[in-house]
Amino acid sequence: MSTQNKISRKTILDIKKMKMQGEKITVLTAYDYGMAAILDESDIDIILVGDSLGMVVLGYDSTLPVTMEDMLHHTQAVARGAHKAMIVADMPFLSYQVSPEAALANAGRFLKEADAQAVKLEGGQEHAEIVQKMTISGIPVMAHLGLTPQSVHQLGGYKVQGKKEDAAEKMMQDALILEEAGAFSVVLECVPEKLAAEITAALNIPTIGIGAGVHCDGQVLVVNDMLGLYDRMTPKFVKKYVNLNLEIKNAVKRYIQDVKTSAFPDAEHSFK
Ligand code: KIV
Repeated sequence: MSTQNKISRKTILDIKKMKMQGEKITVLTAYDYGMAAILDESDIDIILVGDSLGMVVLGYDSTLPVTMEDMLHHTQAVARGAHKAMIVADMPFLSYQVSPEAALANAGRFLKEADAQAVKLEGGQEHAEIVQKMTISGIPVMAHLGLTPQSVHQLGGYKVQGKKEDAAEKMMQDALILEEAGAFSVVLECVPEKLAAEITAALNIPTIGIGAGVHCDGQVLVVNDMLGLYDRMTPKFVKKYVNLNLEIKNAVKRYIQDVKTSAFPDAEHSFK
């Protein structure tokens, strides 16, 4: 195929340029082909195949049980549906913490086997060496600071992070060190608005906020939350743009009613 006919996909250069030009970066999660296609056709900048998969798709209580195989399977489906957005795959719990070698090999699988263009991993300066190894090896890394759900037991729950001065200072240092290590962007989750604004101003790479206020360079939400599909828990920072849970239940109830009363299938939906 000639390069002229190819649809161009967003790259880390486009994403970094958006920060420089003051254009907000839009990110949503997706876990399957259909949703990825809808987000892509809606011109989203980045699709994150988040390990939130574990909660909103697989029904676990946390993200901890998610495996590499789960993430690869769903990233492959997303990649089949999205051709313009940049696809970032989340590295699941213990796929990068055990050793730098395993981290690099696992990150590489997302690019080799699942057509992702980048990976995301949770944690601060303690992962700088891994981020550097991946970056040098050609694997773009999105970092993730603040509330890092894989550390829910260490953090003592899903709470706002960086409220105290020393924690805020540590988060700023983490962000600067991860940028230095080569991360192309940083997710800031559940961080006070003022601290997120300070980190955003201090970094050359974009910050992507979730519960981190309006001053971040971009925003991310879990798609099942913003569409009102997942109703087991709704964090304060989620804006529901539609209540699909209710819409779907209403549609299913109408279908059940139609089948029970033989109103479906009618002539229009039957073969003569
Ligand atoms: O797993 C996920 O969906 C995430 C986002 C909430 C940033 O990490």
